[in-house]
Amino acid sequence: MIDIQKFRLTEAQIVVLGSHPQIIQSMLDYDFLAKRQQPSVVAIIATGRKQERYFWGETEVIIPVVSNLSLLREAKRKTITAVLNVQSARRVLSSTKQAIELLPQLQVVTIFAEQTPESHTLDLIELVADKNILITGPASVGLLVPGYLKLGAIGGTQHRQLSDADILDSGNTAVVSTSGGMVNELIHTVTGAGIGVSFAVALGGDRFPITSPAQAILLAEKDKQTKRIVYFGELGGSDEYEIAELLTSKKLTKELIVYIAGTVAELFEEPPQFGHAKAMAQTYDESATAKKKILKKAGAVVCETFADMRTFLEKRVEGERSPVKRTIGSRQRSMIVSHISGEKDETVRLLGKDLIETVEGNSVASLVLSMLLGQQVTSKKAIAFVDYVFRLLMDHGPYVSGALNTIVAARAGKDLVSSLSAGLLTIGPRFGGAINAAADGWLSGVAGEVSAQEFVESFARRGEVISGIGHKKYHIDLPDPRVKALVGFAGNSNGDRYLQFARSIEAITTTKKSNLILNVDGAIAAILLDILESEFDYDQQQLHELVEIEFFNALFVLSRSVGFTAHYLDQRRHDEGLLRLSPGDVRYIG
Ligand code: ACO
Ligand code: LMR
Repeated sequence: MIDIQKFRLTEAQIVVLGSHPQIIQSMLDYDFLAKRQQPSVVAIIATGRKQERYFWGETEVIIPVVSNLSLLREAKRKTITAVLNVQSARRVLSSTKQAIELLPQLQVVTIFAEQTPESHTLDLIELVADKNILITGPASVGLLVPGYLKLGAIGGTQHRQLSDADILDSGNTAVVSTSGGMVNELIHTVTGAGIGVSFAVALGGDRFPITSPAQAILLAEKDKQTKRIVYFGELGGSDEYEIAELLTSKKLTKELIVYIAGTVAELFEEPPQFGHAKAMAQTYDESATAKKKILKKAGAVVCETFADMRTFLEKRVEGERSPVKRTIGSRQRSMIVSHISGEKDETVRLLGKDLIETVEGNSVASLVLSMLLGQQVTSKKAIAFVDYVFRLLMDHGPYVSGALNTIVAARAGKDLVSSLSAGLLTIGPRFGGAINAAADGWLSGVAGEVSAQEFVESFARRGEVISGIGHKKYHIDLPDPRVKALVGFAGNSNGDRYLQFARSIEAITTTKKSNLILNVDGAIAAILLDILESEFDYDQQQLHELVEIEFFNALFVLSRSVGFTAHYLDQRRHDEGLLRLSPGDVRYIG
């Protein structure tokens, strides 16, 4: 069983399984009020987004979101010491097991969900029996080690509650309860009596809490900073008999002050079921009265009323305590987050510097690539390549579908933006918008060490075309001069495994049909992958993320916008009026 002192010696790094913004914000507020240098929550495991925004004091911070714990880099996983599991009851077992498997430095887990299947709870009890991991719950509001760790809703979920609760500095009295609501009441009772809390734990009101009250009380016995324990119990179950045994066997030597709720149940003909699953006295021994008797006999201080606890504790005050008081001021949530640009001190900044300075410090290509990657780029090779691609892709004649649509719209009298949009809306999987899918294919093929033959056959089996391969005009006997120029430009000085793979695919596809050559989309995708890997040291996950956000298509869109705009202006300059096909242009099959 872990030692509470370990939480005071460790700067907690927490991952949250699922998302519960209110609880997470309260943990960050606690960190801030307790003067931590940075948030204890370092990642959230959830789907449908890549980040969540929270307040850090009065400012905002971003917490990364990944869809599965296994997607967190191993180096990050090795730093995680605590888990807050707010996932649904049916996912508690699998997600907690995965956390225990993937987080080698894990010290504590809080399981928030209620109605976790008892068989799952029993599995988790068995799973951690021989591990130095404290699990609170199911149905737990968490663990608080004042000044060091707030894991869960414990202590409150509003920053004003946290400021008022006098739990920012460490004390000498442990608070143990199965009830989440009562643990906060107990904290207030202890601090209200002028005593500090050494740690507080809410074990959860399910029939089988993974950590029992007796085990939690032994944690307090072992904790050198704890002088006494305050415990809230209730009717039902047999936890208090285990606690009494700790006292009689001298395994528990520290002062234990208890309140057992539920004597009112003894007024009923039939035993009533109270809120928590186990809060029902099926027999006399499970009644509040019986429990109070056994604990008193064993030497515990048994309070008849909850208020008696505070009265008793006030006699234990060892001198005036000057509670740490800190508050958080007003804060306003921003509408959007930009990593590209924004204002500071009335000045527009771009990529971290004054806009004019950034503009004057970058060429067009350097600025384009830096803005597309969201970071200031310095690689001369990458900048030169993007500059070349940007110029190369601007136009390929009015024949291509996108240019034609811009021309048709211009001659229909549409304005620039509408005509440009008509062209841009044509960019897609067959024309100009295949760079991203080609990058995805080359990335998967190389990462999966798939042979060129198997790669081609897998697409054929699925009846899919290979993005980056094929052209309406060019073929093996009339190669696309742009592809030749790109390959020559790349020079492949830093390794070209993606271009080699793309070429190996072309070698097979051109045996099937002569026009199934590596096209300009496929070539750009491959060379960009090689450059990002060699010049920026991007790993597979980072390259995959660029594919996911469609980074690779951006260059074609930006560059060909120049060409479409030129065609629009050209048509306006030499306006021939509305374009209409003649009957000979259409073969009517009617
Ligand atoms: N991979 C596998 N098979 C292909 C591919 C491909 N990339 N392209 C065409 N084929 C096959 C088709 O499946 C079809 O086979 P079938 O005769 O057995 O039915 C046959 O070749 C004819 O294909 P079509 O699409 O009808 O005609 P075309 O070959 O002229 O298509 C096109 C050219 C649209 C570019 C096609 O090759 C394609 O879709 N390629 C993938 C998308 C792509 O990379 N586009 C970028 C082009 S460059 C640019 O836009 C800047
Ligand atoms: C282009 O750059 O637009 C082309 O490769 C497509 C085409 O049909 O010429």
